[in-house]
Amino acid sequence: MVKKTHFERLVIAAYRLPFKLSKTKKGYKAVQNSGGLVSAILALSENFRTSNKNLKNSKIVWAGIANDLPDDVTPDSFENDNFDILPVTIPARVNDLYYGGFCNDLIWPLFHYFPSYAVFNNDYFKAYEEANLKFCEELVKTIKPGDFIWIHDYQLMLLPEMIRKKLPDATIGFFLHIPFPSFEIFRLLPRHWRESLIKGMLGADLIGFHTHDYTQNFIKSVKRTTGFECHQNIIYTPDKIVKADAFPIGIDYDKFHDAYLKKSVIDETLKLKSHLSNQKLIFSVDRLDYSKGLLLKLQGYETFLETYPQWRSKVVFNMVVVPSRDNIGKYKEMKKEIESTVGRINGQYSSIAWRPIIYQYKSLDFNELIALYNISDVGLITPLRDGMNLVAKEYIACQVENEGVLILSEMAGAAAELNEALIINPVDNIEMAEAIFNALEMKPKEKHRRLERMQNRISNYNVFTWAFDFFNQAYDTKEQQKVQNIKLINKTISSQMVLAYRKADRRILFLDYDGTLVPFAKYPELAIVGKDTLKIIRKLSDDPKNQVVIISGRDKQFLERQFVGVNVSLVAEHGYYIKNGIENWKATINTDEQWKEAVLPIMNEYVSRCYGTSIEEKTGSIVWHYRNADLEFAQLRLHELRDDLAEIIHYKTDLEIIEGHKILEVKSGKYDKGQAANALIMNQNFGFIFAVGDDKTDEFLFNSLPHSAYTIRVGLSPSFAKYNVKDIPVLFKLLEELPN
Ligand code: UDP
Ligand code: G6P
Repeated sequence: MVKKTHFERLVIAAYRLPFKLSKTKKGYKAVQNSGGLVSAILALSENFRTSNKNLKNSKIVWAGIANDLPDDVTPDSFENDNFDILPVTIPARVNDLYYGGFCNDLIWPLFHYFPSYAVFNNDYFKAYEEANLKFCEELVKTIKPGDFIWIHDYQLMLLPEMIRKKLPDATIGFFLHIPFPSFEIFRLLPRHWRESLIKGMLGADLIGFHTHDYTQNFIKSVKRTTGFECHQNIIYTPDKIVKADAFPIGIDYDKFHDAYLKKSVIDETLKLKSHLSNQKLIFSVDRLDYSKGLLLKLQGYETFLETYPQWRSKVVFNMVVVPSRDNIGKYKEMKKEIESTVGRINGQYSSIAWRPIIYQYKSLDFNELIALYNISDVGLITPLRDGMNLVAKEYIACQVENEGVLILSEMAGAAAELNEALIINPVDNIEMAEAIFNALEMKPKEKHRRLERMQNRISNYNVFTWAFDFFNQAYDTKEQQKVQNIKLINKTISSQMVLAYRKADRRILFLDYDGTLVPFAKYPELAIVGKDTLKIIRKLSDDPKNQVVIISGRDKQFLERQFVGVNVSLVAEHGYYIKNGIENWKATINTDEQWKEAVLPIMNEYVSRCYGTSIEEKTGSIVWHYRNADLEFAQLRLHELRDDLAEIIHYKTDLEIIEGHKILEVKSGKYDKGQAANALIMNQNFGFIFAVGDDKTDEFLFNSLPHSAYTIRVGLSPSFAKYNVKDIPVLFKLLEELPN
């Protein structure tokens, strides 16, 4: 069930429109475009309104490339009751570089783990940007508030961010239909391209993948490319949270399962059977693609014929290859190679009465496809990589009258859900030959047992469940964003704050240093307060009604150096030391420093074990910095370090471990920024209390100040602070407004 069903329209953006027009004697006939994306979205569109009663008044708009449209037809020729078409046209030269180039000469091979096929060309990326922009322009003209925008696949990875820039409040989902590769592969892309792709996708509210592995690969690439914080599946971008999750795409199960009852399918089935005599049938249907393992499939079959001669002339392999991208070099080459391999095998094993392979290079219509699924004894699906592979699911759904066996590559996303199939590694021709033999010899009971489980699974999570699961999670993410957004300071809140400031006779302002007044730098000593910032602080601190307090984890000397000649109070080492105005520094507690002897060796060990990390020792604490380390690796070490330290902390109960921006710090729990701030406001009558910080240690401050205080967290993390500001520049604007 869709929880928030009030989207009026589902706006789909995909490179391919659902149909192409093919010329007939009577005019044009609409023919379904090939590929799993079109199959799935078309199935969803056809039954969208009936699949959920809340959607009965919803409409679908489908935006896609209309470059192939013959000149004498208009997009209206496609239109039907299920959706409106939004045609997008780009210059033919751009389309070549975009579709033939960036999409299918670079991203496709790279994301399917064929890096040696990838072609890197600067013009490709320019064309990719241009084409995505064109989609954006067309879509923005039509999108209305309340629409759900669903962007599909690797041809449109920049589009979510482009739309977000124009329509900040839009609900945008993105789904990738191909694998998302490991970072080691993704990093082969030039830095600017990979940053653009990741940020492009992060324009969406929800990003979907077929499997958990692809989701994890993506999250890792986000971390490595942008440094954004990620917790489980949530990514904290500077603007909003984004969720990434696995949604294994399904099929319209009933349509396939019940199709054998259709008259047109029955006729087609009888026709095919009449050609087969008593032979067993092995069937495969794939788009022409090197990712589909077509040559390996032929090799496996050849090994089978060689190893099990008793099956020769008793079995036929019908290999259907659906034309795809055959203008692209690698595809052309592969087609030739397949055809010569088929010729060679047929030449070697044929007899007058029997041909081992029936090869067809063509598209099948629905009746033919179902009939072949129905009558075949073995479905042979052997991709080297495949995002999902819907053919595998369709094959299983169609096993009703004549129960067949599915042989499936472990490299297909579908293998995760169809593990009762005979799972093979397609590069192992002996394993494939054995699987074919086992499939042909399998007992009916065993076939039935395996099919029943797989059918149960894929009938439950079908294409509708898939889509509605996606919509629900997108809305949940939107809700979570709202909770965050409520806290963002807007004009009304800042005006209230300015008014309260001006009304008060005595004011105190607590300003954290790193990440609040000064952005993080590669090394802590390089994070120096800027002139303009000092000017803002001076303006506040020169007002006799104000006490400005810099409240930081830094040591005394560093803070003193930064604020020489500025009339501010200083709190150093998270409250260990306080310098109230012109008074001298005072320590707030006397700690015994013996604990350091136990902590230092452990931290040193982690400096050796994690290159790029360092230690900072202060009077009351020790810090492990990992800003300059490999973040992924450092996160791993961080967990281990925390565990090791926890054992010591266990015996020295007044110690605590705090984690901040790329640091882990051990200090006494007897003082914190909150206690230091309270010491400064105690017995005083401040009419305006203000505190701002960006880190976990500032939470002590926010949490301990009186409720009337204006507390602000820089960044979008959840906080005890009353409000959030997006970043430092927004804070500075506010600080400048207060005294004017
Ligand atoms: N299909 C097609 N034309 C054909 C034969 C099959 O459009 O002649 C459909 C098939 O039913 C399936 C889709 O194409 O739904 C292929 O999807 P899959 O996920 O298996 O692979 P993809 O082509 O997306 O890589
Ligand atoms: C796969 C891709 C789709 C693509 C389809 C057909 O299914 O995920 O995005 O549309 O193949 O490929 P083509 O290049 O003809 O669009």
